Amino acid sequence: MKKTTIISLPNQKTERKRINKTNIFEEFSLDDSFFTLGKDKLYYIYTYGCQENEADSEKIMGMLNHMSYKRTMDVEKADVIVMNTCAIRKNAEDKVFGEIGRLKPLKRRNPNLITIICGCMSQEEVVVETILKKYQNVDIVVGTHNIHDIPLMLKRIYEGHTRIVNVLSHEGTIVESIPVIRESKIAAWVPIMYGCDEFCSYCIVPYTRGKERSRLPENIINEVKKLKEEGYKQVTLLGQNVNAYGKDFIDIKYDFADLLTDLHKIDIERIRFTTSNPKDFDSRQVDAMALGGNIMPQLHLPVQSGSNKVLRAMARRYTKEKYLDLVKEIKAKIPNVSLTTDIIVGFPGETDEDFNETLDLVKKVEYEGAFTFIFSPREGTPAAKLSDPLITDEIAHERLYKLNELVNEGYLKGNMRFLNTIQDVLIEGISKNNPDVLMGYNPNGKLVNVKGDKSLIGQIIKVKITDAKSWSLDGEAI
Ligand code: SAH
Ligand code: SF4
Ligand code: F3S
Repeated sequence: MKKTTIISLPNQKTERKRINKTNIFEEFSLDDSFFTLGKDKLYYIYTYGCQENEADSEKIMGMLNHMSYKRTMDVEKADVIVMNTCAIRKNAEDKVFGEIGRLKPLKRRNPNLITIICGCMSQEEVVVETILKKYQNVDIVVGTHNIHDIPLMLKRIYEGHTRIVNVLSHEGTIVESIPVIRESKIAAWVPIMYGCDEFCSYCIVPYTRGKERSRLPENIINEVKKLKEEGYKQVTLLGQNVNAYGKDFIDIKYDFADLLTDLHKIDIERIRFTTSNPKDFDSRQVDAMALGGNIMPQLHLPVQSGSNKVLRAMARRYTKEKYLDLVKEIKAKIPNVSLTTDIIVGFPGETDEDFNETLDLVKKVEYEGAFTFIFSPREGTPAAKLSDPLITDEIAHERLYKLNELVNEGYLKGNMRFLNTIQDVLIEGISKNNPDVLMGYNPNGKLVNVKGDKSLIGQIIKVKITDAKSWSLDGEAI
């Protein structure tokens, strides 16, 4: 095994703790000695998981760019490979391990190649152990709380360290001013908070991302204003539970409703946000969303299950009835809203009856889309200790299939309602399937394909919808 410098290893027991009441803020900076470290070198970045990881990858790219590295889209040419990983379900982790394994020959061909593992998997003890034992081609393991240490860790490798692990398990700081290279010139991610304090019984995120901590309102507002000045048309506010934004402030009273109201006043064309937690979505927030205008009529509102028994076991802290009440209020105040959700099937203890409650809820809400998952036990979470011999793989897959059939009807219905209407479509690029066709999204977040000139990319144009399919709309520019 090659010599490893262990600065800090993840520890799930510490990750579980919530002790600090106040948030710690830091400003990112790099001294001149870093600026040429990446000269004539290329990096390749893999991003798995949620939008939060996508936003982190943009910061990692920003830092690497600051160090003079250039990005390559060909992993074989890379001098540095970054894998920004996700731990949400076992299959997400398997994918990453598969890929690290496939990269082994590259290291044999180029011993100077540096491979960095970051993201949520780095925060897991078992993962780091496995990497240290079985994946000699990994040089740096860094956690979600200190991606800003990547420049220093790279420098240490160039200075002769063979392998460094530095994963913090504290509750997390808020680091401002990390440079960013955004993937899009049109739509930008804007994290408004980090971490999660919900501790849903199945979920690894509160361990991997630490304490819920909100960025200061002025930093968010200034970022959005700057994005507007740079020509961005859309911002998506990010957090694991955006509805809890500001609840961690001690000396100011300012919540998600206040933030939405303030951002509504900025003339950025489109504001979206994700993810919402029904438990913290109060009437003031619904009212703020109902201001409309640049706040888009689209809401992702994960429900997880329609059975009160299962919701309790998941520690979701709302009931089916409460959820339906919230949906009723949202639909009454934002009549045009498109609702989507996340659902887990096969949670330990879920009976056919419980599952039917979920199907019933899906019918009642009339979701226009959903991400559906089979429960995946995550080590260290309370639900991982539960087992249910009655839920075989086959039963879980049957439930998933049945649920998806229903959900797919919702996708189609949700698109059909726009047939023959005129929609404002923000053109974001060229269709993946057809280079002659542009793609964009309407206010409700529906994918629209439209014939037109490339010069329209980045503009909001009027489109007559001529065809509606399950996964997309077709239209003509008018
Ligand atoms: N913070 C968001 C969700 C983040 S994870 C929220 O609370 O809504 C995205 C989705 O992954 C979750 O909504 C859930 O449906 C699913 N998920 C999380 N942990 C899971 C697990 N252990 N097994 C299966 N699905 C899981
Ligand atoms: Fe996980 Fe629940 Fe937090 Fe979402 S709210 S990230 S599901 S613990
Ligand atoms: Fe995955 Fe971490 Fe996001 S586990 S879903 S990358 S918060």
